[in-house]
Amino acid sequence: MAKLLLVLCFLLLRHVLANVEKTIFVAPPAELPPQDASIDNLLLTRLSEQHPSVRTALNASFPTEANPKGTETWMLLEGLHPQKRYEVRICWAATQPTSFWIYTHPISTAFESPNLLTSLSAYSYARHEQLSSDDRQSLHLRKADLISTDSTFLFLQIFAAADYFSLNETLMEIVPPVAVDVILDPYVFNIFPRSLLPTGLYLLVIASGAWFLSGRISRLLVGQPPDPPGKSLEKIN
Ligand SMILES: *[C@@H]1O[C@H](CO)[C@@H](O)[C@H](O)[C@H]1NC(C)=O
Ligand SMILES: *[C@@H]1O[C@H](CO)[C@@H](O)[C@H](O)[C@H]1NC(C)=O
Repeated sequence: MAKLLLVLCFLLLRHVLANVEKTIFVAPPAELPPQDASIDNLLLTRLSEQHPSVRTALNASFPTEANPKGTETWMLLEGLHPQKRYEVRICWAATQPTSFWIYTHPISTAFESPNLLTSLSAYSYARHEQLSSDDRQSLHLRKADLISTDSTFLFLQIFAAADYFSLNETLMEIVPPVAVDVILDPYVFNIFPRSLLPTGLYLLVIASGAWFLSGRISRLLVGQPPDPPGKSLEKIN
């Protein structure tokens, strides 16, 4: 048990050192988006199990009284399995100090809340202005095919606030967009993020290897012959 905790600590540490912000959520009951093209028309970047990550640049700004969390970005999480646990992570370079806040909203909640709807449409409007036809095409290619009827959608709302001080006046006035990876990660058996599974197994193998080895070495040091393998297994059980 202690070893397992140690492994988990390692994983947490790894998260902290890599400039990661994340949110963990359980997908809500099945809900299909409106049949018309209104969701497509929002021009949001999509994340799904088929296209789980995107490397992009998010607009950021210094916090103000009106926008204490900086600038918003909206994305769409699609084809989620209801009741399944997921996490969304944002990873960014330490050279661009930024604070992120991540929220998920069911489609119906977003459409019923005037605040959310206003900021979603403002974002979508800016996207229409900004995106070239090539950008739109590559957005369209990220659309998951084979969306089943018992899957669900969520809006992802990301706030990015610049978190630095610079003597360079340009940098204090205009915050450059932050280069990020946004990753949708399903949990395995609702307990462990799928992408961390190889790391977890690796650490587990190392930890149990060290466990066996340390027993043998300490016995060698006190001059006892090593236990036959069957006996040491019994000890551990
Ligand atoms: C991001 O910032 C640029 C420059 O200020 C602006 O032109 C663009 O509309 C913004 N994009 C979004 C989606 O808000
Ligand atoms: C200030 O930062 C901008 C943007 O990074 C850069 O282009 C410019 O050269 C910098 N100015 C000075 C004086 O370092």
